[in-house]
Amino acid sequence: MKNKAKEILLKNWRDGFTIPCDKLYPFQWLWDSGFIAIGFAHFDMPKAQKEIETLLNAQWENGFIPHIVFHTESDTYFPGPEFHRADLHPQSSAKYSSTGMTQPPVTGFVLEEIYNIAKNKAEALKFIESQIDKVYFNHEYFYNNRDVNNEGLVYIYHNWESGTDNSPIWDDVWKTMNPPDYKFERRDTSLVDAAERPSKREYDHYLHIIEIAKKYNYSDEKIAENSPFLVQDPLFNSVLIKSNESLITLYQLLGGNQDKIDQLKHWTKKGKSTLNSKLYNEALKAYVHYDLVNDRQIEYASSSSFTPIFAGVPSKERAADLMGTMLDKFGGEEFYLCASFDPTHKKFDPKRYWRGPVWINLNWMLYKGFKNYGYSDLAKRIKKDSIELVEKAGFFEYFDCRKENYNNEVEGCGGANFSWSAALILDLLNE
Ligand code: GLC
Repeated sequence: MKNKAKEILLKNWRDGFTIPCDKLYPFQWLWDSGFIAIGFAHFDMPKAQKEIETLLNAQWENGFIPHIVFHTESDTYFPGPEFHRADLHPQSSAKYSSTGMTQPPVTGFVLEEIYNIAKNKAEALKFIESQIDKVYFNHEYFYNNRDVNNEGLVYIYHNWESGTDNSPIWDDVWKTMNPPDYKFERRDTSLVDAAERPSKREYDHYLHIIEIAKKYNYSDEKIAENSPFLVQDPLFNSVLIKSNESLITLYQLLGGNQDKIDQLKHWTKKGKSTLNSKLYNEALKAYVHYDLVNDRQIEYASSSSFTPIFAGVPSKERAADLMGTMLDKFGGEEFYLCASFDPTHKKFDPKRYWRGPVWINLNWMLYKGFKNYGYSDLAKRIKKDSIELVEKAGFFEYFDCRKENYNNEVEGCGGANFSWSAALILDLLNE
């Protein structure tokens, strides 16, 4: 299994970065790259480092890091660079074309993972020293531009920024919008089963928000004033907080930088506090998303609801409640953990993208989080389920969570030979 995982990563490696999956995702994606680097760190440290270096090379002059870096041309992907037009932003990268949106900021904690995995710590630290300020600059970008209420939480302005692209959570926002019926040619549905991908109408919403951002040349200020989609996402903010803490640890190892350490501590404290007061839903006993435009919580439980545990956000009592919610709603004997959306809810769809299936990257974060809080049985189950799914179905992009489907010939969902599934299973196996 480990060899197969390494083989996939090496096959998906291009010149200086790794694609998530052949044909379906032919460029460099932000959070994919981070998880991929963790996998490479176990057997090819130069590639792990190069992956991150390439990603950070695409950073804009304002600290922003785009969610896709288009290193090459490809006719298998829509919407490509000519649709996104990131160059409209005056500080976008002169070196690379990219999108004008971002993704969960994993780079900080990935640097710490690389350090922990490295056998040669001095060499790893040298690499980290060469990159860490770029990551800090990225966090500064977030807190200066996307924390509109100055409360330690940042917003995302597009569902693709969340990483959980077509979660039912966004349905509530779509209800407030009425985008045009765009004419465009999708490429994804000719590569994988359309029943596992978002619908045409969902795509209209996705494109519409980009059109609005483009109209304002991707100005953060204007987006915050005009976008119909401004959401505080518990997953995104937990990843940012986790990365803050990793940066603190790494700056301490490097020595000096006290001003940055103090600032990171300040952001972290404030972020944790507001996540707990604003994004926790007492009735669901879970963290939820917050719609800033309509000033309300979006009341659904999803795998994102548990991610604050990865960042040390909940108190011990609240962590116990989160475990209860996971076991009650997601943890029935008939299911593998952890469905991406509440299996007891009518919007649950076990095969469609982020509307139900299991994703290995979410499982990896939840495993680490519950383990850190001392819930070793639950953590072990998440780890075992992840490995078993890949054993039975292969290194797919995502997986139907219903165990009954794995009795005969089975396939995973979405793209095959998927890089982060390979990288993170490798990490779990190497523990
Ligand atoms: C899908 C996922 C997103 C991921 C991308 C590349 O769009 O929703 O999270 O980064 O594929 O793998």
